Amino acid sequence: MNNSSLIPARAKAVIFDAYGTLFDVHSAVGRHMAQVGPDAARFSEVWRTKQLEYSWVLSLAGRYEPFWILTERALDYAFARFPNVDRSIRPLLLEAYRTLDAYPHVRQTLQALSTRGLRTGILSNGDPGMLKAAVDSANLAGDLDVVLSVDAVQVFKTSPRSYDLVLQTLSIAAEEVVFVSSNRWDIAGAAAFGFTPIWVNRLGLPDEYVDLAPGGVIASLDGLV
Ligand code: LAC
Repeated sequence: MNNSSLIPARAKAVIFDAYGTLFDVHSAVGRHMAQVGPDAARFSEVWRTKQLEYSWVLSLAGRYEPFWILTERALDYAFARFPNVDRSIRPLLLEAYRTLDAYPHVRQTLQALSTRGLRTGILSNGDPGMLKAAVDSANLAGDLDVVLSVDAVQVFKTSPRSYDLVLQTLSIAAEEVVFVSSNRWDIAGAAAFGFTPIWVNRLGLPDEYVDLAPGGVIASLDGLV
């Protein structure tokens, strides 16, 4: 399959997941590697894994808290799991999480999609405040038509109600949406909803969710255009 065929002719919008897809969630710990110490990689992994687990458990239980609160709670859990990591860097890590590094090719990819007449946007579990901080610090506001937070429906991905925000906001049909995420679970949710999902598999991870397959797989964002 050549890359240009990844985006179907019927597509009207290309919507991106934020954390892990446009923004490198491990860049927060990465900026403070020396202070976090030898467990830095595992610490960052636990932080991310717990943040996501909390989002799924709350959603299944019919509860909701803003993603920033879950991010803080997950960080506190990581500190508890790794008692050797100095808790005094908590504010530094949280500040870094609000201004995560964008991955390479983000702006060029968004601009190339717009040039093709496609609308571009974000649909994220992130609450509006943290999304605005991330988008502004990466200087992407001018390249995105919409920045959507599940906060508007108070339920996290992979609830169909979260993906439906894209349809309600852009007044388009699910089959007109290409959804791009590095998170394979998010690709599964988007496939179940009826989007054309494209998986950014930067790490060459094994495939999963066999019944909810991506419509395409790329190794980095420039593979989209
Ligand atoms: C997002 C996280 C969950 O929705 O990756 O941006």
